Amino acid sequence: MIKITDLRRSYRMNKETIVHALDGISFEANPKEIVAVVGSSGSGKSTLLNVLGGLDREYEGTVDVDGKDIRAYNPNYYRREKVGTIFQQFNLIGALDVRENVLLPIKFGGQFTPAEAKNRADYLLHKVGLSERKHHLPNELSGGQMQRVAIARALVASPDILLADEPTGNLDSTTGQEIMQLLYELNQDEDMTMFIVTHDLELVKGIDRKIFLRDGQLISPNK
Ligand SMILES: Nc1ncnc2c1ncn2[C@@H]1O[C@H](COP(=O)(O)OP(=O)(O)OP(=O)(O)O)[C@@H](O)[C@H]1O
Ligand SMILES: [Mg+2]
Repeated sequence: MIKITDLRRSYRMNKETIVHALDGISFEANPKEIVAVVGSSGSGKSTLLNVLGGLDREYEGTVDVDGKDIRAYNPNYYRREKVGTIFQQFNLIGALDVRENVLLPIKFGGQFTPAEAKNRADYLLHKVGLSERKHHLPNELSGGQMQRVAIARALVASPDILLADEPTGNLDSTTGQEIMQLLYELNQDEDMTMFIVTHDLELVKGIDRKIFLRDGQLISPNK
């Protein structure tokens, strides 16, 4: 359960100008819920994900995850085990093969033995349809395949929350819909709350729960 109350995040540009990237937003999300966060460029979507991901602690208001303020969690534990993130740019490490990329988040955590870690990675690579590509390097993959690796990597530590920032932004619309389908299936298998951020309403038409951001505020869709 995630409970956000009056979340505010501003950036001071200079003496006179402050940008209110998040301007007092409140909402709740339940375990297993998929929440689409929709808004145009600059509306505050990535700012929201940075807070939820534990990367940004310079906010006002409260963000509770499973009954505890995220600032009360050990930051490393929170970032490593509570949340997984999928970035628009994939952010794969070019010198590591597919399986090594997937294993990266749990390499130093100590929560899996090496054999368990390998099993978990192989299970997820199977799930995302890349069993045959385990030992390939990222530059030997298509964009959609790279995004599948990034998804497997975000899930490897079994996070409670999956954050996806424009997860299909670099893909054609057919591949984009395939990735969305995959995220829906993974949401059924793995017990996690998902936040999918996009400016593209069409992409998230299959998601019931949508929140709309404009200038850092939540708006109702017909405004
Ligand atoms: N580090 C920063 N310093 C100053 N202003 C920032 C910073 N990060 C974001 N902003 C501003 O905060 C507002 C919200 O930015 P944010 O990145 O959250 O938008 P977004 O909805 O993710 O946009 P996009 O769809 O283009 O990724 C914008 O006006 C942006 O210029
Ligand atoms: Mg953004």
